[in-house]
Amino acid sequence: MCGIVGYVGKKNALNVLIDGLKSLEYRGYDSSGIAYISNDEVNIIKEKGKVSELEKKINFNQDVDLGIAHTRWATHGEPSVKNAHPHTCEKITLVHNGIIENYEELKEELAKKYNFLSDTDTEVVAVLLNEIYKEKKDIVDSLIELKKKLVGSYALAILVSDEKDKIYALRKNSPLIVARSTDASFLASDVPAILKYTKKYSLLLENEIAILTKDKITFLNDEKEEITKEIITFEGEENAALKGGYDHFMLKEIYEEENIVKRLSEEYSSFEKLLHNFKDIKKYNKIDIVACGSAYHIGIIARYLIEEYADIPVNVEVASEYRYKKNFLDKNSLVIFISQSGETADTLACLRKVKELGVTTLSIVNVVGSSIARESDIVIYTKAGPEIAVATTKAFVAQLVIVILLTLYFAYQNNKMTKEEVSSVLKDLQKLNIKDVINKDYKDIAKILKDKNDIFFLGRNIDYAVALEGSLKLKEISYIHSEAYAAGELKHGTISLIENKTPVISLLTCDKIIEKTISNIKEVKARDAYTIAITTKAYDFIDKNIVIEKTNKLLMPILAVIPLQLIAYETAKLKGCDIDKPRNLAKSVTVE
Ligand code: AGP
Repeated sequence: MCGIVGYVGKKNALNVLIDGLKSLEYRGYDSSGIAYISNDEVNIIKEKGKVSELEKKINFNQDVDLGIAHTRWATHGEPSVKNAHPHTCEKITLVHNGIIENYEELKEELAKKYNFLSDTDTEVVAVLLNEIYKEKKDIVDSLIELKKKLVGSYALAILVSDEKDKIYALRKNSPLIVARSTDASFLASDVPAILKYTKKYSLLLENEIAILTKDKITFLNDEKEEITKEIITFEGEENAALKGGYDHFMLKEIYEEENIVKRLSEEYSSFEKLLHNFKDIKKYNKIDIVACGSAYHIGIIARYLIEEYADIPVNVEVASEYRYKKNFLDKNSLVIFISQSGETADTLACLRKVKELGVTTLSIVNVVGSSIARESDIVIYTKAGPEIAVATTKAFVAQLVIVILLTLYFAYQNNKMTKEEVSSVLKDLQKLNIKDVINKDYKDIAKILKDKNDIFFLGRNIDYAVALEGSLKLKEISYIHSEAYAAGELKHGTISLIENKTPVISLLTCDKIIEKTISNIKEVKARDAYTIAITTKAYDFIDKNIVIEKTNKLLMPILAVIPLQLIAYETAKLKGCDIDKPRNLAKSVTVE
């Protein structure tokens, strides 16, 4: 996912823009670039690799008060200087986050009179806009026309050489925020890029154009009428975009989990607060849950919980499959969308498909004002604060708390749990001891795992869903292949892969089927596996027991997943991996 920063104001724009790009590095990228006004000229510098490489090419001793900058996560065209943004064509210079789905047909037409320099869809946008502008002579009219011609997703920051005191911005399906400080205007793909200067911002919406100058930001709708915008105040820590002394954002964010759970447990500290917070959620007799990646794993946990405790059938699907398959929804159905970023393309597409069916949509989202949040009938914010590391941890735990709370609410609504039973779980949530499980030492396990080629995770019921997440965490940051299996399924083929000292990490927190999982662990032990267990009590036959406190069974997944997050972290650290920005990954997959 690309990152965009724009600035016009009294400070040195070059410093603001480069700092802004660095705060967006978590989004994943492979090249970067900047365009700025100096000596009444548009200057463009681009470089492959890290922002620090771009920095080396910039002379910061210039009087620059306006510019745009970009980190590119390659979609069309390999990572290179020629494909890096900004892209320019005569009077137009721009940066882009998203995918233009009809760029090939546009390019075919434009290529008849223009020699393209790059392989990107973004350059097509610059050339097209320049063509329109040559004809209309008015940039706002040209932008309105441009929107009619583009299919796909885009967040665009644009410089026009006839108006060197302005930055123009527009978006569709890719996020853009705009903000004012006392002496400047900003635009960015995400909040961390502006937090040093202001906590107040607005979300640019799809039928709007923003015009940024040193003194103000003007918003126009597609009829060129000036509109006023809601101001959102960021609720997190100002240094949310800083590591705060931790080696990695991922570790910082894991350590934030204790406060996040505490804050949520206080927001839902009583039965009355639970009912009040969820008052807009009526009764449903069928629930679909749609998500991707780790959020999908939350959906699987939610299915086990809601079916078990609320007695409501739940169907969970990855969004990329759900959007193309038949569904069985009606007015008594609820579809829940889970997304940290609120911008995941497949999840957003499913939301829009379900809304067309007139089915009630509820989203569990971390990023305030994101597309999925804004387009859902009901949104529950996880309030975990900006999650910088690509591998989700604190947002995952916050989503987990929310689905547990929803389970209690549905169970009460469905007369499957009493007020007293619900209140008892809420009290246990307030007492949950996360500190102990975070403060254990996982380095010795990381030493065992770091040189392995294959690692397996086992669990049954909710433990299986937690095992899926443990496996994904390990894979995505340490690059070690691993698979999670329903423990009872391993012997149907995959057990053939178990050989001497193959690590098998099992979850042993679901009491009702623990004996079955123990049998499965003994099966792999008999084939010389090295067995590790996240368990509520130690077992002699297991090589390494990680004993976690036994609490209310609804809450066990919260305590069980944290060791897996830290095992993945410590293993990746020993391997010297780029933990916060794993190769090939983006924080939010805004492309299909
Ligand atoms: C999780 O660590 C990954 N970064 C990834 O699987 C992520 O959960 C997935 O892309 C969904 O993102 P979302 O929650 O922002 O929709």
